[in-house]
Amino acid sequence: MASERESIHGQWSSRLAFILAATGSAVGLGNIWKFPYIAGENGGGAFVLIYLVCIAVIGIPIMMAEVLLGRRGRQSPINTMRTLAAEEHANRHWKWLGWAGMLAGFLILSYYSVIAGWALAYVFRTGSGLFTGLTADGVQTIFTNMVNDPERLLAWHTIFMVMTMTVVARGVSGGLEKAVKLLMPALFVLLFVLVGYAWNSGGFYQGVSFLFQPDFSKITANGILIAMGHAFFTLSLGMGAIMVYGSYLPGTASIAKTCIAVSLMDTLVALLAGLAIFPIVFANGLEPGVGPGLIFQTLPIAFGHMDYGAFFGMLFFVLLVFAAWSSSISLIEPAVAWLVENRGMTRIFASVVAGLTTWLFGLLTVLSFNLWSELKLLSGIGIFRDSTIFDLLDYLTANIMLPLGGLLIAVFAAWKMSRAATVDELAMGDGFFYKLWRFLVRYITPVAVIIVFLKAVSVI
Ligand code: PHE
Repeated sequence: MASERESIHGQWSSRLAFILAATGSAVGLGNIWKFPYIAGENGGGAFVLIYLVCIAVIGIPIMMAEVLLGRRGRQSPINTMRTLAAEEHANRHWKWLGWAGMLAGFLILSYYSVIAGWALAYVFRTGSGLFTGLTADGVQTIFTNMVNDPERLLAWHTIFMVMTMTVVARGVSGGLEKAVKLLMPALFVLLFVLVGYAWNSGGFYQGVSFLFQPDFSKITANGILIAMGHAFFTLSLGMGAIMVYGSYLPGTASIAKTCIAVSLMDTLVALLAGLAIFPIVFANGLEPGVGPGLIFQTLPIAFGHMDYGAFFGMLFFVLLVFAAWSSSISLIEPAVAWLVENRGMTRIFASVVAGLTTWLFGLLTVLSFNLWSELKLLSGIGIFRDSTIFDLLDYLTANIMLPLGGLLIAVFAAWKMSRAATVDELAMGDGFFYKLWRFLVRYITPVAVIIVFLKAVSVI
């Protein structure tokens, strides 16, 4: 049986509650905003295929490792790593893995919140019928006007951070569990409605072949790194979010089944989003590689032309905001749990401290889209020639910090922990599936991550 420790922050009420919370963490802007635009920038099919392979062979095994560590340690990632390292007689510096994860969480949330703010703004823009009958040009102008205005971005970013802090202050179970239970199915239904629209848009065939017909001449070493990084990002891996959620998981729940369920749902949402967006891109003669504005420049065209578009559009962006919300709280939870454990703060105070810090970092992203849009800090380095501060933050966290964190989690679980401890915690026996998991995290995952890193470095 699992370890006897208990979390001071409470526990999920059931395995289902954990699945919902972990799915809430995984499904977010990564699936609906980021996946389509990076797939578009990196040529489509081949990129999507590599991403799917990474989910299966790297993502799922690492997710299991991360939940396993969390449930065994039952504390914030920093303290979990410290406790487990002592217990397994490993080097005490493993605690730095927890620290790096916390930093990654701050950095990711700082830009995540700004983009979630765009989604918030679009709830009102679509709901008011602003897009009705507009062409692609009109829709694009509205987007450009929004991101050009730092004050507006700041206001929405602030609102979203306050929303995040409010939920985190109350603790992650409770309200959150209930909300996700309702909103996830609604998001699925709405994505199907959008795919239905895309089906009739005249660009469906082109969209599908862009997404699913691999053309390996279009993929670069850097593209492979981005696909791998995205597998970590979209499953919330490598920074302790899933670890801290695992620390609230009841001792009896099966880790393997849970992780597979979460990964499948996450992947399905991303593919549906792609199927909704790319047909609209091609039907309207748009560019798949326009970047972070992609969904904001494509979906409103659909909403502007379908029956009850204002209503569906508003609903869609409301759901997107909720998906982002349930992810953002998991980004900040490792830090809040640590502040409560080690600094003796109340949850409310800890949420305010962590939230304010993130909010401040967010200013970098707010300004990246307007006043500082010409500031290219690493313009001397080939692939970063055109990167704004937002681009660099995204690259550093998703493509470097998360895979590195995931690699170390795999190494710890598979090389530092005793076999008996992992057999015990995963509780799936010592048969084929356990051996497969151990083989993947021991050899395949670390080697794959290192190869992809080296390849990408060689082109920088
Ligand atoms: N998985 C979330 C998404 O796809 C983002 C996230 C990354 C959340 C890392 C937590 C940790 O939107």
